[in-house]
Amino acid sequence: MTGQPGKRAVEQLLSWFERQQRALPWRSAPAGQRALYAVWVSEIMLQQTRVDVVGPYFAAWMNRFPTVEMLAEAEEAEVLRHWAGLGYYRRARFLHRAAQELVAAGARGQSGPGWPQTAAEWKKLSGVGEYTAAAVASLALGEAAPVVDGNVKRVAARFNALKLASDDRALHRAAEEWMAEAMTILPEGGEPGAWNEAVMELGATLCSPRSPGCGICPLEDSCKVNEMVASGAVALVEGYPLAPKPTEWKELELIYGLARAPDSNKVLLVQRLEGWNPGLWEPPSLIGTGEAAEAWKASGAPGSLGEELGVVRHTITRHKITARVYRLEMLKDATYQDPSLVGLTGLAKKILRRWV
Ligand code: ADE
Repeated sequence: MTGQPGKRAVEQLLSWFERQQRALPWRSAPAGQRALYAVWVSEIMLQQTRVDVVGPYFAAWMNRFPTVEMLAEAEEAEVLRHWAGLGYYRRARFLHRAAQELVAAGARGQSGPGWPQTAAEWKKLSGVGEYTAAAVASLALGEAAPVVDGNVKRVAARFNALKLASDDRALHRAAEEWMAEAMTILPEGGEPGAWNEAVMELGATLCSPRSPGCGICPLEDSCKVNEMVASGAVALVEGYPLAPKPTEWKELELIYGLARAPDSNKVLLVQRLEGWNPGLWEPPSLIGTGEAAEAWKASGAPGSLGEELGVVRHTITRHKITARVYRLEMLKDATYQDPSLVGLTGLAKKILRRWV
């Protein structure tokens, strides 16, 4: 369906990237020669977080955890604190766990013989999927492993005029194939990692979702959708890839009990073990719609619900949550915690900001 991008297009994009790439803290060495640890950390941070947001977090992280051993040995709470603001604490917990797996397998420092040396080996680590494995293997080890992220899919959809939705698995496969094909026709000395980064960079800058800079794009002459716009066959480059189907939201009603220590700002928190945000902390809760105090009692949860404080709304994945928050009257012996010392769920942060 896609074929090769063509040698000339590959060369044009690579030379554009050489001239135009943004100076970013993790681009300290040319693609193919970077430290494994730094590439891995930066690529995990860059998932769903913008480059300009990640910069300062990456610097602070490398300062506090400069090697895989220092990350492996750190307390989880401290790791999560360095992550706060990047979203999805799961990714931080996976980084921490994978650091421990790496050290156990003999990895030290930032790179070297004890580290996994192929994308396939990287994929065995906690939290390392197809994308991260390919990014690390290409940018640090020079392996011809194609990356596919949202930017790559958009560039591939436009370049090849693929009439597929951005979340369609078929677009993912087509983009991967196209990236791999390009890696077979790189110019003399061309780095697969540089190709990966060049396509991602194009998608992050000129080939943006809205108002792309087609007039100054290095692929202007070879991009199929650009050609179709020029000939009047389609109205706008922005139409590719197609929009995903709208989310089917599910409503979820929760009841939260908020218990504060009598003499401090500490609160009663429980750690989530499964479902969303495992490992993070929040006030005790249950799923329920009707009479809250009755439901609390029937569930066997400790304490009893008192006055209703109010309602908090929150969305997570496909769920729209309505949380009714009540004062929780504890009997005795409750252990209260300082909420600033643990990783909190997004909903818990909203609740505590309002009532504590
Ligand atoms: N987005 C995620 N990783 C990237 C990289 N290495 N270069 C450009 N954009 C990216």
